[in-house]
Amino acid sequence: MPITQILALLFLTFSLQSCLEAGSDEASAFQIREPVQINPTEPVTFAMLQSAIFDNQCMACHAWSVNEAAVRTRIVPGQPESSRVYLRVEDGSMPMGGPELTLEQLDLLRRYIMELE
Ligand code: HEC
Repeated sequence: MPITQILALLFLTFSLQSCLEAGSDEASAFQIREPVQINPTEPVTFAMLQSAIFDNQCMACHAWSVNEAAVRTRIVPGQPESSRVYLRVEDGSMPMGGPELTLEQLDLLRRYIMELE
């Protein structure tokens, strides 16, 4: 086999290989992930809500969000769908002007309300 053909073959092999590798990177970037629950087995505490939601996304406008008793006045225990705090983030109207809460954050807030009596 003439040397030019061997070189051409080698070149083809290498370029095919890098195509395959690029392909697999792309696949992993679009991998579908299971929804994650934050600490799924632990009861949800107010401190968890503060660090996951209130401190970063609510406190700047709502001083009440640092105070559990004040937050509780906006909650009907056991009923997220009747709780202003939950309804306003679920419908995306809060945080005002900011990105909507993630499903994990919504889940955490919902579980906090469900666990209240
Ligand atoms: C940029 C300012 C801003 C941010 C950030 C913000 N809010 Fe509000 N929020 C407002 C304003 C202004 C109102 C009153 C107008 C209205 O009801 O739409 C309001 C009203 C509310 C109400 C109804 C009134 C009440 O006190 O019960 C709730 C509940 C609420 N916000 C929850 C939240 C939560 C939870 C977050 C964080 C995830 C948040 N907000 C982030 C500005 C903000």
